[in-house]
Order: sequence, then C-alpha cells, then structure tokens
Amino acid sequence: MAFYVTTPIYYVNAAPHLGHAYTTIAADVMARHHRQRGEDVFFLTGTDEHGEPVADAAHALGIEPQELADRNAERFKALAPQIDATNDFFIRTTDPQHEAKVQEVLSRVKENGFVYEGTYEGWYCPRCADFKADNEIDEGKLCPIHHIVLTREQEDNYFFRLSSFQAQLEALYGEREDFIAPRARYNEALSFIRSGLRDVPLTRHKLTWGVQVPWDHEHVFYVWFDALLNYYSALSYADPKEDLTERFWPASYHLIAKDILRFHAVYWPALLMAAELELPEHIFVHGYLLMEGEKMSKSLGNVLDPFEVIERFGADALRFYLLRDVPFGADGSVSTASFELRYETELANELGNLASRTIAMVLRYRDGKLPAGDIDPVLAEDFAGLTGRVCEHVDRAELTAALDEIWQRVRRLNRYVEEQAPWQLAKDDARAADLDRVLRSLAEGLRSVTVLLWPYLPASAERLLAALGAPELSLTGAELGAGQIETVAALDALFPKNR
Ligand code: MSP
Repeated sequence: MAFYVTTPIYYVNAAPHLGHAYTTIAADVMARHHRQRGEDVFFLTGTDEHGEPVADAAHALGIEPQELADRNAERFKALAPQIDATNDFFIRTTDPQHEAKVQEVLSRVKENGFVYEGTYEGWYCPRCADFKADNEIDEGKLCPIHHIVLTREQEDNYFFRLSSFQAQLEALYGEREDFIAPRARYNEALSFIRSGLRDVPLTRHKLTWGVQVPWDHEHVFYVWFDALLNYYSALSYADPKEDLTERFWPASYHLIAKDILRFHAVYWPALLMAAELELPEHIFVHGYLLMEGEKMSKSLGNVLDPFEVIERFGADALRFYLLRDVPFGADGSVSTASFELRYETELANELGNLASRTIAMVLRYRDGKLPAGDIDPVLAEDFAGLTGRVCEHVDRAELTAALDEIWQRVRRLNRYVEEQAPWQLAKDDARAADLDRVLRSLAEGLRSVTVLLWPYLPASAERLLAALGAPELSLTGAELGAGQIETVAALDALFPKNR
C-alpha cells in the first residue's frame, strides 16, 4: 500500500520559522507512522521560488530572485534534518524538471479547452500573490492577511476556466465528505464554491520571474498554478532511477494551513480535472500557531525561532510540544512558558521518569534480566486495541488525538507502578513471581508506548528502545505482549531538567 504526504512548498522570500516547522513536523509524524505500518511511503516538502513575493523581496535586497531563492532554499533544506524530518525529496520550483512538467500539464489544460485570453482587473496583494474578491478586502483597501494597501491591477492574461468546474466540484464535495478536513474547512470551501466560481488568471504578463508559458513567451504562469503542480511533478524526477508517479499518485494527504485553503480546495482539484489527472485523497487543514494572538508570519515580525528551542531541548521536545499543546486542526497559542511546562511535567516527569524507574528497577531487582511470562491482565485490558485506535486517528490526520491515546497509557503505566509498589514486592521473597510479572508488564508496556511514540519523539524513542533491547519499530510489534524484552541496559535521562 502506498502513502504519499506533502507539505506546502514554502516561499523563499524569507527564512523558515516555527510555522513552517509545524507543518513539516506533522507531515513527518504521518510519514513515520505509515512506514511503521509497512507501507510504501513518500514524503515531499520543498520551496516555492517564483512569483511576485520572491521577486519583490529580492529586488528590495538589490539581488536577483534566483540568488535569493538559492540562499533561502538552503535554509529550508537545512530545517528538515534539524527537526528530524525524513522527507524523501525536497522540491524547488526552479528545478528545470519541475518547470518542464508545469509547461506540459498546463499545455494539456489549454488543449483540453480550459484556457482563453482576456483582461483581468482587480485588487491584488503582492505578498499573497493573489487577487482579492470584493468581500475579502479590509477597510481602506487593505489585505486582510498582510494589512498592506492592495493595488488595482489590470492586465491581459490567459485565463483558466475555473467556472466550468462548478458542478463537478460540487459533486466532488457531495461524494467525498472526507476530501477536506476538519469539517469547518470543508464547509468553508464548499460555500466558496457554491457562491459561484469565476475564472482566474492562469498567467501573468508583467512578470518575468516564473515558468515561461510555452505558447506565449511574454507570459509566465501565475505562481499558484506552478506551485500546486509541485505535488505532481516531484514524483516524475525525485528518483533518478524511477518515475514514481504511478506508484504514489494521487497524493494521500496534502497538509496545509487555512491561509491557502482556497487554492488547494478549489483551484487544485479543478486544475487536476482539467488536466485529466486523479485528485488527491485528502487535504487536511491545520490551524495557526499564534503568538500573542496574531498569526505568526514573516511579515508581522513576531517570529519565534525553532532553532533556539531545538538547540536547548532537542527536536523531539519541539515536535512533541507542537502536536500536544495545540490540537492539530485548531488554532492555538504557543509560548515559552507552556513549552517549558509540557517539557517538565510530561516529557521529564511522566515519560522520562517512567523510563528511568522501570529500567532502574529491572537492573536493581533482577540484575537487568527479565524472565519470560505473561503480562498482567489488568494492564493488558487497558492497552487492548490501542494500536488500532492510534491508526484510526492518524488515518484522519488527528495527530493530537492519536498522541493523547498513547499518553493516557504512559500515565496508566505510572499509576501501575504506584498501585503495584514493586519496591514492597522486592522485600518479600515469597512474592518473587509477582515482582517478575510487574516488572515484565511495566517494561513491555513501556516498549509498547515507545514504539507508538516514535513518530513524535524519534530520537528519544530509539534511545529508549535500544536500552530495552527491543529496537523493532513496526506497528505489528507495538501491541502489548508482542515483544520480548530479555535484558535492559542503563539509560541517561531522556529529558534532563535544568537545560
Ligand atoms: N508558497 C505557498 C504555498 C504553496 S503550496 C502549493 C505559501 N508559502 S508560505 O511560506 O507562506 O507557507 C504557508 C504555510 O506555512 C501554511 O499553509 C502553513 O502550512 C505554514 N505556516 C506558516 N505560518 C504558520 C503559522 N503561524 N501557523 C501554522 N502554520 C503556518 O503559502
């Protein structure tokens, strides 16, 4: 079974920030989880390098757009390993193979009769690279996102006949209620469609920084069509040995935030229909990470540096925090204070302590060796069906809910230690078999949650599983009782305090 997950491709007009890290981390959690299920996984991220935002930012710096793109694409590329993202490819829209694919697909759209010449006039935000509908404009002709004055643009363009997909898009939404999630985003996209679709510019006349239109060299493609096609084009050249399109298209999940919903929920399926390509299975729209109540973005200047957090606490702590503290799919505030609280109470005290005391007790009472035998039925009951529930949540991109299922078992194991008080059992030789069972159940429970936590906490989970002598990551082995721990080894604190 194939699983293909993507992030938006990020604009190279500025450096990466926590918001970009967020989507990439979420996609990575999904990719890792599906790999654990033994699926054939492809995970794509990259950079969106054409269009006005990039050209304007470069000119402001007195350099060419390509130079700015090269410089910042490197920084986005460097972000992935720092947050432990295991993307299979990094696409840049200035890749010549991508550009050729864009020309090929959009020529087909034209041959299929969905392109015509016309004149466009409207209010345009150069930062969004988007024309705004009249009801989207803030007072004073301001962009609702960037709070800058919109410009009145008029130009001769080629148009994409978006309007001719009205009925097909409505039918799509009718047939596939899980095409867009969460539900509020599905409703938002559907009501946009129902309000009546207008044709949109497919090309720009005045710009030069973009993919050239093959049938008219005075035009470049509008950056959004160039950008959306990355999800499709990447498969054709990511692997020099094999065209991966057959294997991975259509995408299983596009992860995006709500700022780019309309492009993905309306333009993208229409474009794919026009090109006679299959539609993605799911688009999941997560919320905004908010700092002091405003969406964090390059232009607002209130950027939190993910690199600093990683340097002090490690990538695992950042990954965990973002998916634990902000319900995936909803907006949520992030702050240093709430980060530190989660780190201390959950990572250090709950998981870290569970790991260190379990290992310490096996070392102290059984010299590191766990005798084979059954798992305590009391615990087995509380773990029954856990893997299945985690899978169901991840299948719906409910990454916070999946993590919570697992975390409840971390807490259950801590309660189990208190209930069974192994230190009391250890005092009584007659209860050696009980102590064996408690230690075995604890160690096995710890192994089970750790396998499930691996997508969220890959480095810590690997260290812990190595100490348990059970490095197997596959989800079939995650069930309580499926593993066999024989010998445990000492482990330094997973989440040290006082960093
Ligand atoms: N280049 C376009 C996307 C083209 S995809 C075919 C673009 N780039 S962007 O650099 O502005 O990135 C937007 C995306 O970054 C959001 O959709 C989201 O995935 C992520 N985020 C940026 N800021 C964010 C927050 N403050 N909170 C959550 N996600 C954030 O749009």
